[in-house]
Amino acid sequence: MEAKENVICMTHPLIQHKISRLRDKNTGTNEFRKLVEEIAMLEGFEALKDLPMEDVEVETPIETCMTPMIAGRKLAVVPILRAGLGMVEGLLALVPTAKIGHIGLYRDEVTHEPHEYYCKLPDPIEERTIVVVDPMLATGGSAVDAITMIKKHGGRDIKFMCIIAAPEGVERLSKAHPDIQIYVGHLDRCLNEQAYICPGLGDAGDRIFGTR
Ligand code: PRP
Ligand code: URA
Repeated sequence: MEAKENVICMTHPLIQHKISRLRDKNTGTNEFRKLVEEIAMLEGFEALKDLPMEDVEVETPIETCMTPMIAGRKLAVVPILRAGLGMVEGLLALVPTAKIGHIGLYRDEVTHEPHEYYCKLPDPIEERTIVVVDPMLATGGSAVDAITMIKKHGGRDIKFMCIIAAPEGVERLSKAHPDIQIYVGHLDRCLNEQAYICPGLGDAGDRIFGTR
């Protein structure tokens, strides 16, 4: 896949180490959940580095000074259900005041196309920076539909954050929504015939929630 301006692939050793632990089929549910949360926080640190700042007046024990704080637009975190839920706490650790929206999509097992079953977003969504989270960007169908839904509700300033992506998903998402920034923990090799990411980590939802 050729390099794209709107796609940022993480290189930090901590993120890469934790993703390798996630991949291991012997990593159990408890550790898996913790790792997803930690990786989301580390990726969030990068994804939020362009939040607008403003100088505010603060009185220190020594004197009054002007000092920078996050300004303006408020943050919304929107997990794609179910697996995206695992990333929410990681971002809330960085911005505890963020509002949370939810988009419910599941992939049809045969066509691999997403089906919507839920959408509830903070109102008004147009005034917020929105971070859509889902650990897996496979065919890209779920991310494309989720962002289309958010745009229909008025969302404009949108970022998408995943832990593992397939090149096919990155291509589809950046073609459908060239205006959004995509943050990828690790870019994997390809999709298999069942549209699972290779080498990937298996089914993220099942591994987070301990289902099959
Ligand atoms: C997984 C994953 C993404 C989607 C990615 O969810 O969490 O939402 O598949 O695949 P795509 O890029 O091909 O659309 P799934 O539909 O399995 O639902 P779940 O989170 O409820 O397990
Ligand atoms: N969804 C997952 O959970 N894993 C994949 O590899 C692809 C889609």
